[in-house]
Formats: sequence, C-alpha cells, structure tokens
Amino acid sequence: MILVLNGPNLGRLGKREPGIYGAGTYEDLVQLCHETGGKLGHDVEVRQTDSEAELIGWIHEACDGRIPVVLNPAAFTHYSYALRDAIAQRTAPLIEVHISNPAAREEFRHTSVVAGVASGTIAGFGLQSYVLALHAISEMNTTS
Ligand code: DQA
Repeated sequence: MILVLNGPNLGRLGKREPGIYGAGTYEDLVQLCHETGGKLGHDVEVRQTDSEAELIGWIHEACDGRIPVVLNPAAFTHYSYALRDAIAQRTAPLIEVHISNPAAREEFRHTSVVAGVASGTIAGFGLQSYVLALHAISEMNTTS
C-alpha cells in the first residue's frame, strides 16, 4: 500500500492555472496513480485536502503504519514547519512531488521546508512527476 497525499488547491487541477499545472484534472491524477500502482503491483490510495491539520493527521497515520508516501504538499512546501516536523517522524520512504518546477518560479517557491526530511524530490514533469515518484518508491520499498 502506498499513500499519495495532496495539499491545498490540488483538488482544482484542470481549472487551476492550466498554463502552469496543465489541463489534467484531479480525477485524471487519481486514475493515473491507480493505474501506475496496478502496474507496479501496489494498492494506491489517493487523498487531497486543503487543511494543514488533516494533512498532518494523514502523515501521522503513515508514520504509525510505516506506510510509504508520495506527497505533494503544495503551498505548505514553502512554510509549514508543522508538516515538516510530522514527516521527520517517518520510518518508511516519503517522496516529495511537484507538478511544476518550483525552482523555476517565484522566489518564495525556491525554499522547501519539507525537502530535508523527504527521501527525495521529483518536480517539473507535470502529472508524470507522480508516476516517477511511484516507480521510485516502489523500488525503495522492495529493496529496503
Ligand atoms: C506545487 C508547487 C507549489 O509551489 C504550489 O504552491 C502548488 C503546487 C506543484 O505541484 O507544482 O500548489 O506543489
């Protein structure tokens, strides 16, 4: 089982700044993650919330269950020390993903407070970032 967790505004994919995030909808993302999980032989559960508290609760759940996570923290990436401290408790792999490439955007997006406690980061490949992350975490999961 792999959890794919998404932070604020990602439920609006497709409608939200399509020039940056593409035309694919959140439903397309869910389907893509399920398909990729199926090919890799893993159950994948995809969730999205606009709430920092709910997202932290899901990270605690993953920590307690030692569940691998693919996480797009969205804007929380750039300032949520609470999310960072939750992720720091993990013992299973966690991969940070971004649809866009934050390093090529506004200055405030150049900082990730999450990157230092993630296993690694994949950014800038559109919805394919999630596919790449699922492949990576599947590999880590079977080798560690
Ligand atoms: C994002 C990048 C963040 O800077 C932004 O706040 C998002 C989406 C991405 O997937 O490209 O909401 O995480």
